Amino acid sequence: MPKALITGITGQDGSYLAEFLLSKGYEVIGMVRRTSTLNFDRIHHIQDQITLVQGDLLDQVSLINILQEHRPDEVYNLAAQSFVPTSFEQPVLTGEFTALGVTRVLDAIRIVDPKIRFYQASSSEMFGKVRAVPQNENTPFHPRSPYGVAKVYGHWITVNYRESYGLFACSGILFNHESPRRGLEFVTHKVTYGAARIKLGLANELRLGNLEARRDWGYAGDYVRAMWLMLQQDQPDDYVIATGETHSVKELCQEAFGYLDLDWEKYVVSDPRFYRPAEVDLLVGDASKARRVLGWEPTVSFRELVRMMVDADMEMLQAEMKQS
Ligand code: NAP
Ligand code: GDD
Repeated sequence: MPKALITGITGQDGSYLAEFLLSKGYEVIGMVRRTSTLNFDRIHHIQDQITLVQGDLLDQVSLINILQEHRPDEVYNLAAQSFVPTSFEQPVLTGEFTALGVTRVLDAIRIVDPKIRFYQASSSEMFGKVRAVPQNENTPFHPRSPYGVAKVYGHWITVNYRESYGLFACSGILFNHESPRRGLEFVTHKVTYGAARIKLGLANELRLGNLEARRDWGYAGDYVRAMWLMLQQDQPDDYVIATGETHSVKELCQEAFGYLDLDWEKYVVSDPRFYRPAEVDLLVGDASKARRVLGWEPTVSFRELVRMMVDADMEMLQAEMKQS
């Protein structure tokens, strides 16, 4: 039975990846941080099928000990401070988690077992002020946030350990991917949840930031499959994972509110509080290398994704209303 370690298993992607690896017959070890209250909502349904171990990207010894004790064949490094606005508020901490944390995991692999295959969760946020449209593996980086800068470091240290020490280390440059399990602070979920609340009479407006920003939004369930495929190849490499379609935040609002028969313009307010010091205006990825080499394709369209999230939010809110 192959064994995989997932850092960030309590996050959106960690939960989908754990489900996916279990379906492939893996033994799954999940690294979690110590917290005073449990935050296992996303993995509650599979908790009896996985092993959770305590560790932290800030703590080198914990990473080495976990690898020594569990001896995984594959490590998926999904843990990070992943919210862009927080990276402007806490740039140093973001660098510790999201940049140096990658080196700590790579060093632990190098020390314990250099044959372990490694996946790094890199990001389209690295393209930032984009130098080409669409963006592919050869597009230069120009990050626009401390988060994006930290991810550029994580990407290059992954490439560097591959070239310096021969590690099987892959960097997946994933464009935005969403799901009903997405954190509520990210714009897709903020919009679908906000629209559902308005539909049910629980709110009468939704305050957002820049409505013109454009993103290439895909479904998280599709994207974790790409992570696994990267580690099954003969050679380690880097891949862009994206749908190839871009939509504005305005279009996202139109789609979510429209699905609920609401006119978004009556409810959405653009509030400068949610603007960022520097913005990423347009992301759209070219995943032709992943299609060609990995045989990867997205299966959920933008419209299906938004509707899936709205449906999930309506169901959750209606259940809450029944209980109260
Ligand atoms: P997420 O929901 O924010 O999950 C982040 C995870 O990292 C959580 O499990 C969190 O644990 C854990 N974590 C944070 N700091 C840690 C630390 N110091 N030590 C150990 N664990 C720590 O993020 P996601 O959307 O699943 O994304 C997964 C990864 O892909 C992230 O690296 C993100 O930057 C990257 N990425 C995401 C997207 C996207 O669109 N979703 C696109 C490109 C790249 P707690 O639950 O304890 O907070
Ligand atoms: N969060 C948020 N909240 N974003 C808003 C809002 C708002 O109220 N209003 C407009 N936006 C705009 C942001 O300015 C940004 O241009 C866009 O919506 C998307 O914001 P997020 O959903 O917060 O995602 P992100 O693109 O900054 O970052 C996500 O995707 C990256 C991949 O490109 C995160 O998942 C990162 O971890 C990931 O690497």
